[in-house]
Amino acid sequence: MCGIVGYIGQEQAAPILLDGLKRLEYRGYDSAGVAVYNRETGTLSVRKAKGRLHVLAEQIHDGADLRGTVGVGHTRWATHGAPSDVNSHPQTSRSGKIAVVHNGIIENYAELKSFLISKGVPFASETDTEVVAQLIEYFYQGDLLSAVGRVLHRIQGAYALGILCADCPDQLIAVRKDSPLILGYGEGCSFLASDVTAILRRTRQVSYMEDGEIAVLTRTGIRCYDHLMQPVDKEIVQVDWDVDAAEKGGYEHFMFKEIMEQPEALRRCVSPRIRDGEVVFEDFCLSPEEIRALEKIYIVACGSSYHVGMVGKYHLERLTRKPVEVALASEFRYMDPIVSEKTLVIVISQSGETLDTMAALREARRRGGKILSIVNVVGSSIARESDQVLYTWAGPEIAVATTKAYSTQLAVICLLALYFGKLLGTIPPADYRSALEAFQALPEQVEQVLSRKDDIQYYASQYFNHDSVFFIGRNIDYALGLEGSLKLKEISYIHSEAYAAGELKHGTISLIEDGSLVVALAACPRLFPKTMSNVVEVKSRGASVLALTTEDRRAETGQIADGVFTIPGTCELLLPSLSVVPLQLFAYYVALMRGCDIDKPRNLAKSVTVE
Ligand code: G6P
Repeated sequence: MCGIVGYIGQEQAAPILLDGLKRLEYRGYDSAGVAVYNRETGTLSVRKAKGRLHVLAEQIHDGADLRGTVGVGHTRWATHGAPSDVNSHPQTSRSGKIAVVHNGIIENYAELKSFLISKGVPFASETDTEVVAQLIEYFYQGDLLSAVGRVLHRIQGAYALGILCADCPDQLIAVRKDSPLILGYGEGCSFLASDVTAILRRTRQVSYMEDGEIAVLTRTGIRCYDHLMQPVDKEIVQVDWDVDAAEKGGYEHFMFKEIMEQPEALRRCVSPRIRDGEVVFEDFCLSPEEIRALEKIYIVACGSSYHVGMVGKYHLERLTRKPVEVALASEFRYMDPIVSEKTLVIVISQSGETLDTMAALREARRRGGKILSIVNVVGSSIARESDQVLYTWAGPEIAVATTKAYSTQLAVICLLALYFGKLLGTIPPADYRSALEAFQALPEQVEQVLSRKDDIQYYASQYFNHDSVFFIGRNIDYALGLEGSLKLKEISYIHSEAYAAGELKHGTISLIEDGSLVVALAACPRLFPKTMSNVVEVKSRGASVLALTTEDRRAETGQIADGVFTIPGTCELLLPSLSVVPLQLFAYYVALMRGCDIDKPRNLAKSVTVE
């Protein structure tokens, strides 16, 4: 997704902007650009290039070509207009004196563009962002802030904006609405960024802009205003993220590093929440009476977070006997969802900034639902708009394909199912106790699975040339298959589908032929015989079967499947938490063998802040 960085200070801005953009590369982008004010010429120097950041960095000799101590930079992920030099940001006004970087979408840009064209304003790009730059210039009469204010009254949509004007080079303007923007406070300098990672090496003192706020950044500080231009006192917080935790360490890929970090992430996520044999959530937003009165639980999310919801539904319904519905966030807001004050809406998001998920959250709130979010990024928009946040504490996740965030989200939803089940009396006390014991053992069991990664690598070497892969399973194994399949297609570009094992015969089995690869997920003991009978069906039609089951079923499974990978035994609740690890590794090794760009798969973005 697009990234923004801005700097005003004493040092040369361009190298700082390039460095900040580099830290944002993980978000996914297709072009990059910077604008710096040159005091000698009194003009803005703008350089933009399609492709990876190094293309831009080479063109401007790592920033040495652009002289100046104030500037903005951007990495763009195309929405309006194809990836190209001209469509990259910063976008400038016709005179070139106003430069704008933007994350989000200006929904009424076409109308505004027609208006400006009718006034004789020529446009250079296909972007919605250029409209903002042109409109600021159109209204500008010597007071930049007031011109920006007038523009904000006219534009609709989601935006984080960084604005630089050659007439007032001692300031940068930042604006936020529905797209994250962070302000950074340094010694004699100020920063703006879409993500704290961009500025972490320069300052740890940050504040989070709220919707509708405008900030004026100078070398000596930052002034912030609300949408009525009333001054706002921002709380400055100290970010204590470990900078190295956002780097690759010794691993070849972030994704592999993050897969290997899962035991630690799970420890961080789970240990503080199990105390004296009980699941503990501090200051829970719902009282026991409110939990008992819940008529329905909704889970809304996108992508892998949605898949966590799919597993969570099985667990929550089994352990709480409350009806649970899982909805794709992008569908939820348009489906007239049945939500009342007796509905708990669980919103799941790694980034906490996914626009579809955010919109679903607001829709749910509008309808009276209580919002509980499961989020990784502290202080993110979704976290801040929820009644209750359960952070996953997975640490920064850089690879586009999520792994440790998925695992920790899953752990949180399992803890929640236990917490509710205990409170409602719908989980037998013995099951509750054994689940908590199993939870304590989980990080170590994940380590055991990881220690056998070579077996997965071997299977990957056997099957990486397949064109199509089916994942089958029942119940929680089916829900897990959705994630295994998504992981594989995301990073290896192999066509893959996940099917409920019993549903295959109702159509899709027609695609099974000699040499098709079927990954059979058969960890759930009560459904093992049923799933294996579906395995026999595909075997007899020529498929190769790679099966995943528990250790005690190895021999039995090996009689039917071509390859078997086992996980240690655990309670049903935690089986997906172990089974997902070999699926992540399988996708990783297959992608590696196919020479794919694992951390930044084509067309994908880590944080999707457009609808
Ligand atoms: C993007 C990413 C997916 C992710 C989804 C939801 O599409 O590529 O990997 O699962 O967004 O992201 P969130 O941050 O809301 O969990």
